[in-house]
Amino acid sequence: MGSPIVLGIESSCDETGAGLVRDGRLLGHVVASSMAEHARYGGVVPEIASRAHLHALRPVVRQALDEAGLRLADIDAVAVTTGPGLSGALQVGVAGAKRIAYALGVPLYGVHHLAGHVAAGTLEHGPLPDPCMVLIVSGGHTSLLLVRDLARDPIVHLGDTLDDAAGECFDKVARVFGLPYPGGPAIDRTARDGSPRAVAFPRPLTGPRDAPYDFSFSGVKTAAARWAEGHTGLELPVADGAASLQEAVADVLTRKAVAACREHGVGTLVVVGGVAANSRVRSLAEERCRTAGIELRVPPLKFCTDNGAMIAAVGDLLVQAGAEAAPLDVSIDPSAPL
Ligand code: KG4
Ligand code: ZN
Repeated sequence: MGSPIVLGIESSCDETGAGLVRDGRLLGHVVASSMAEHARYGGVVPEIASRAHLHALRPVVRQALDEAGLRLADIDAVAVTTGPGLSGALQVGVAGAKRIAYALGVPLYGVHHLAGHVAAGTLEHGPLPDPCMVLIVSGGHTSLLLVRDLARDPIVHLGDTLDDAAGECFDKVARVFGLPYPGGPAIDRTARDGSPRAVAFPRPLTGPRDAPYDFSFSGVKTAAARWAEGHTGLELPVADGAASLQEAVADVLTRKAVAACREHGVGTLVVVGGVAANSRVRSLAEERCRTAGIELRVPPLKFCTDNGAMIAAVGDLLVQAGAEAAPLDVSIDPSAPL
């Protein structure tokens, strides 16, 4: 018998993901998103997300198996996101994972959503160096993590946003600028025609006395809203606003991440989460890592956003490390601390 095949299931927000990983290699993965159904509300509606997971889970698992050329009976372990996330949404994934694990008589592993994002860095680039620095930037998270052995050592949480996540800031400002949801990609597209130096948006928590690894984006959001209000009755130079906002957010994110690497003697920075798709976050991270002699890993976008492959990747590491499986009555933990 070869190495175990691990099924990973993700359902913490609006993406239903299933992935299959064996020995660090991705065999197949499928993601269904209910994002379009939330668009008219301008944000994720928990009830709609839960219902969408219920509809999507079986087909997504089935398609991932088909893609990998496997049958359900080939699965040797199941890993599932238990938190943090929306409780109804998590519940659907965990219930599905339990059913499969119980029916097949295979171990079940509960996975922290952020550990999943960290493991996304292994899917295309191979095992993570020990230690490495991980910047998770999404609509729900902005965290700087010091990671050693993901399966054995606790993740060290160096810093977090004190208010809005970076993606949330993009999404909210986009709304004020009259751009479509989700705002991040719209800001990125619009910024191409603007000047990053047009508006001097604040760089919060970058002073010498500020918490070095914490973030704050609500001030940037308010400054952008005020700047837009200042143009009431006039045509809003949206491209300049978008480019300047993107520059401010990318500057703070990459400055702090590179400083954290330097100060902790870490040679690799991994950037994951939806905001890792941002063109300026990527180019500034590349520029600053090159100058500092730090290796930068940004997984392909499909692994940056929520997916089941990253959860399977954590499950695979846990299986390989001989970690203890979760009981079949494991509960969800919507506000799981790291
Ligand atoms: O990781 P993700 O798919 O979901 C979670 O929030 O967990 O991230 C979604 C976030 C949204 O806030 C979206 O606006 C942002 O990532 N995003 C971007 C870009 N693409 C997605 N933000 C800036 N630039 C982008 N190109
Ligand atoms: Zn996520």
